[in-house]
Amino acid sequence: MPNEGSYEAAQRKSDEVHADLSKHPENYTMLTGDRPTGRLHLGHYFGTLVDRVRLQNMGIHTNIVIADYQVITDRDTTEHIRDNVYNMVVDYLACGIDPSKTMIFTHSAIPELNQLMLPFLSLVTEAEMERNPTVKAEQQASGHALTGLLLTYPVHQACDILFCKGNIVPVGRDQLPHIEITDKIARRFNERYAPVFPEPVGLLTSTPLMPGLDGRKMSKSYGNAISLSMTAEETARLIKKSRSDSERTITFDPENRPEISGLLSTAAICTGRDATEIADEIGDGGAGQLKRYVTEVVNDYFAPIRARREEIAQDMDYVANVIHEGNQQARQIASATLEQVREAMGMTY
Ligand code: TRP
Repeated sequence: MPNEGSYEAAQRKSDEVHADLSKHPENYTMLTGDRPTGRLHLGHYFGTLVDRVRLQNMGIHTNIVIADYQVITDRDTTEHIRDNVYNMVVDYLACGIDPSKTMIFTHSAIPELNQLMLPFLSLVTEAEMERNPTVKAEQQASGHALTGLLLTYPVHQACDILFCKGNIVPVGRDQLPHIEITDKIARRFNERYAPVFPEPVGLLTSTPLMPGLDGRKMSKSYGNAISLSMTAEETARLIKKSRSDSERTITFDPENRPEISGLLSTAAICTGRDATEIADEIGDGGAGQLKRYVTEVVNDYFAPIRARREEIAQDMDYVANVIHEGNQQARQIASATLEQVREAMGMTY
């Protein structure tokens, strides 16, 4: 974690940009992305997808990287990766990402983006990379040895952000160290060679964190995640078998009753209601009634998105085309930026 002082500074910058976005949307380029390791779930939806669609529709330049090279930072296989990438695009489109407004592309198809890695690596020290708390946490969680790619992936993220001159990056608080390193790289490059890159700002999200069905962070690996691609029946089954506790009366108490509170928060986010109010209403109805309510409101909320999802999935040629066009466009942008970088460095022959 950055210290509180730098966290406050980051919050201040984020607030300033938030206030300016609707006034001057044309000044902003957003870059964000996802690792294609599985299906997107409600945590992604409420945590970032809604925001991305909002920024897209405000007229901000919006870009999404499907970070396929990041999959191999801490695992040994690319099995299922193609399927995951295609399904990720289906999820995006179903949620309202419009490929005529938002550029969707994959790392592996953009050599000029990846080439930025070489000059960028020269601008950071080993100590700076080793200090990154997110990298450390991810390495420990993976149980793998620290690969060179995991150690340097924040620099690779700087390539993602800077190749398209991204100046805003929606992030959670835990991702701030990545923005800091991107900012350093941009500043050092501009000082050492020529002013080519913007200094990006992390847009801190105001959305409350969507807990999983057990109250922990929603994550596929915890088995507590409701995917956008699940059917209504699969959703019902997952919610039904989620853990509750031995107390009958429903109360909202995230600290002492994480499972019940996770369910209440899910219902609250889907309905826009207050979690405590929902708890009071169900009261002695117990976990069974709460689960039925959560199932109903989740399935109601996601019915139109899931219907759209199914329709889009009928036409995988279209989905492939969205990726191809995004990749083509990203390559043009990356080539132009790499050309500027070569010129700034005096490496044009
Ligand atoms: N690391 C992000 C994730 O795991 C994905 C990502 C790749 C990203 N490149 C990025 C996010 C650049 C923001 C900016 O979801």
